[in-house]
Amino acid sequence: MRVAMIGTGYVGLVSGACFSNFGHHVVCVDKDGDKIERLKKGDIPIFEPGLNRLVADNVASGRLSFTTDLTSAVPDAEAVFIAVGTPSRRGDGFADLSYVYDAASEIADSLKSYTVVITKSTVPVGTSNKVEQIIRQRQPGAEFDVASNPEFLREGSAIEDFQRPDRIVVGADTDRARNVLRALYRPLFLNDKTPFVFTSRETSELIKYASNAFLAMKITFINEMADLCEKSGADIQDVSRGIGLDGRIGSKFLNAGPGYGGSCFPKDTLALVRLAAEFGAPSRLIESVVDVNDNRKKRMAEKIIDAFGGVKDKTVAILGVTFKPNTDDMRDSPSLDIIPALQAAGAIIRAFDPEGMVEAGKMLPGVVWAKNTFEAVSKADGVVILTEWNEFRALDFTLLKSLLRRALLVDLRNIYNPRDMVEAGFEYHSVGRSSVKP
Ligand code: UDX
Repeated sequence: MRVAMIGTGYVGLVSGACFSNFGHHVVCVDKDGDKIERLKKGDIPIFEPGLNRLVADNVASGRLSFTTDLTSAVPDAEAVFIAVGTPSRRGDGFADLSYVYDAASEIADSLKSYTVVITKSTVPVGTSNKVEQIIRQRQPGAEFDVASNPEFLREGSAIEDFQRPDRIVVGADTDRARNVLRALYRPLFLNDKTPFVFTSRETSELIKYASNAFLAMKITFINEMADLCEKSGADIQDVSRGIGLDGRIGSKFLNAGPGYGGSCFPKDTLALVRLAAEFGAPSRLIESVVDVNDNRKKRMAEKIIDAFGGVKDKTVAILGVTFKPNTDDMRDSPSLDIIPALQAAGAIIRAFDPEGMVEAGKMLPGVVWAKNTFEAVSKADGVVILTEWNEFRALDFTLLKSLLRRALLVDLRNIYNPRDMVEAGFEYHSVGRSSVKP
């Protein structure tokens, strides 16, 4: 099948590469000429494990190509995906749909024979209807359907998520459109018996927001329980396990931490709040989730300052600044709240992140960037783990202790066991567990 993917951001690029790997012929389109030139040379602008290789293999096989020229990609395509950004609109938090609507207009001008136009971008309920209107107005005679097919890709494991999804959600009004989507995802259907949820476009659009809001709520719930554990002497790791083993609750997304960040949860929870209010069905729950999470990120700096006994003129070593491991993405990362607050309290920040430092360097002025963990911690007054990269999970404590001025570790991802830390001679503060001293 011939596919055009409009937008080579995170979702467009991963989806385009994965569809070509399924055997389809995919042309990825982007207005950004520099980006397309880089992609043509095999230079992948984002860090995503496995993506370099997947793109290179499929470009070599002739199934994946890149262009800035939408008018050359769309006419031959049987399926055109809109995978452009839907950022939070400044000021009100509504999803900004201008890129989606611009793409719809341009697609309309290039349609030739029957095409399914599919919104993959995360869009508010009713957007696919609007996309259909735009196309129909611009080209009344065009033969097309509009479908919704949200993505559920996690950064850092996006390729695995695409190739082994929990489900595929398709919102479409005609059999013809549904069949095109079935054909696109045929390898999944045949091999894995992946469940398909065929539904209306509005429902499909809402499923995406509801999924992300539910997961954000789960994280926020466990974070509040962590606060209660700290006050009451209970242990959040055991609480998570104890409730997660209940099949109705499930154990995933119950890791307490510094608050959720990233390109989706903060933006999508806010958009759902606005959307729900606009439809006259306000979501008090998700409003609270947004609020609690925002405050949490801010409060984490105080937790660190308390652990250090004040940070004025002290060197704080920070390990990990991205919003999660295996990505270079800094969007809404808790580090963006925590580090400036520590600096404002007088701390000197020395930080290391395996992939995020180029991006973070632009957003976090005044930070001294270290080449590795040990350079970051050398003569520091304590270490803070903000992101649970694998390489921070098995630190050499003897070496670490010899390099630090004070054996103090604040672990906001609970990757260590308090007992082991005491044995290693560390003062150890984590989330939702009692602090310990040797
Ligand atoms: C998310 C969704 O998982 C994905 O389905 C959607 O399409 C895009 O948004 P992503 O933003 O890549 O994916 O990361 P995810 O792994 O979901 O983590 C989001 C945030 O929640 C991170 O800041 C992470 O650290 C935090 N988190 C996650 C927790 O604090 N605790 C958890 O138990 C899980």
